[in-house]
Amino acid sequence: MNDQLRKAFEGKEVLVTGGLGFVGSNLAARLVDCGAHVLLMDAMIPGLGGNLFNVEPVRDRVVVNFSDIRDEHSMNYVVRGKDFIFHLAGQNDHVLSLTDPYSDIDINIKGSVVLLEACRKFNPEARLVYTGTRGEYGSVAKLPASEDAPINPKGLYELSSLTSQKIFKIYHDNHGISSVTLRLTNIYGERAQMLHSRFGVANWFIRQAIDGETIRVFGDGQILRDFLYVQDCVDAILMAASSEQAYGEVLNVGDDKASSFLELAKVAIEEAGSGDWEFAPFTQERAAQEPGDFYSDISKIRRIVGWEPITSLRAGVKQTVDFYRHNKPQYW
Ligand SMILES: NC(=O)c1ccc[n+]([C@@H]2O[C@H](COP(=O)([O-])OP(=O)(O)OC[C@H]3O[C@@H](n4cnc5c(N)ncnc54)[C@H](O)[C@@H]3O)[C@@H](O)[C@H]2O)c1
Repeated sequence: MNDQLRKAFEGKEVLVTGGLGFVGSNLAARLVDCGAHVLLMDAMIPGLGGNLFNVEPVRDRVVVNFSDIRDEHSMNYVVRGKDFIFHLAGQNDHVLSLTDPYSDIDINIKGSVVLLEACRKFNPEARLVYTGTRGEYGSVAKLPASEDAPINPKGLYELSSLTSQKIFKIYHDNHGISSVTLRLTNIYGERAQMLHSRFGVANWFIRQAIDGETIRVFGDGQILRDFLYVQDCVDAILMAASSEQAYGEVLNVGDDKASSFLELAKVAIEEAGSGDWEFAPFTQERAAQEPGDFYSDISKIRRIVGWEPITSLRAGVKQTVDFYRHNKPQYW
């Protein structure tokens, strides 16, 4: 697979928006390994996942542009000459999106349109990947959830993600701007922000376990999720970008095997060798946003792209614990 990806990206000009964030920086490192020329665009908005340390291992092999995706002039410049554009910049705070809807809409919807307009005017040949969220489905009646399951987003963040996805499709169909949308499930792993629990619950559990704290597992802990290790997610993004048949499609990136939140807490505690857990009632905001059990039907991405996750929850949590143990001062 690595040879295949190297062939697809070697010598290619690539832009990653949100490239100093969690998924974007892991993606950037892999693109550098594949021999791509990588430009990262990130506005380092406080409270989101941007961290310059995330690209420390490749600091001499990436270029960073500290611009906002809503800045048309910067965007018009950075899209030029790019073979691939991975659009990962976004505000991901579900709870904040309900109390501060304007910035969510502005970053997540307007930001996507600024990128697409720049491509339409200055680089219509670029191949684009947009990372949406499994939250677009809301509560699902049938599991695993396939891409044609009814869409009932429960919050503004999920709705703006869905809206962006539809706008990408409109540009794909009307302006020939090729794009693929990936609906990511809950991703965990190294290089995520660890300062607050408002997004990235799996990583938050891991932080609490490392700190020897008591993890508060909401409800009875039996709600199911397909937690996915970030390196598997990066594989999915790269493999989708390099698959001609993926363009124009929406593909789930998750796992058809699920774990409960209680299992996650126990694995985090075992791998960290510290911490404890207790049941706690849902907060009001969390209860309103909680869709219940969710795991992804990944038969479409398996068929079209040939991707499937390869890292077990325990192995992924172990890698994550090791990373943060070694780099704790950079993240909390
Ligand atoms: N991590 C997950 O579990 C998950 C799940 C589903 C979907 N996603 C989607 O994947 C994408 C990446 O998520 P992530 O977890 O890496 O988030 P992240 O917060 O770690 O990274 C996002 C990056 O985008 C940057 N950014 C935000 N607004 C910007 C703007 N206006 N201009 C320029 N840069 C801006 C931030 O500074 C940050 O570095 C997001 O679109 C998110 O919605 C992530």
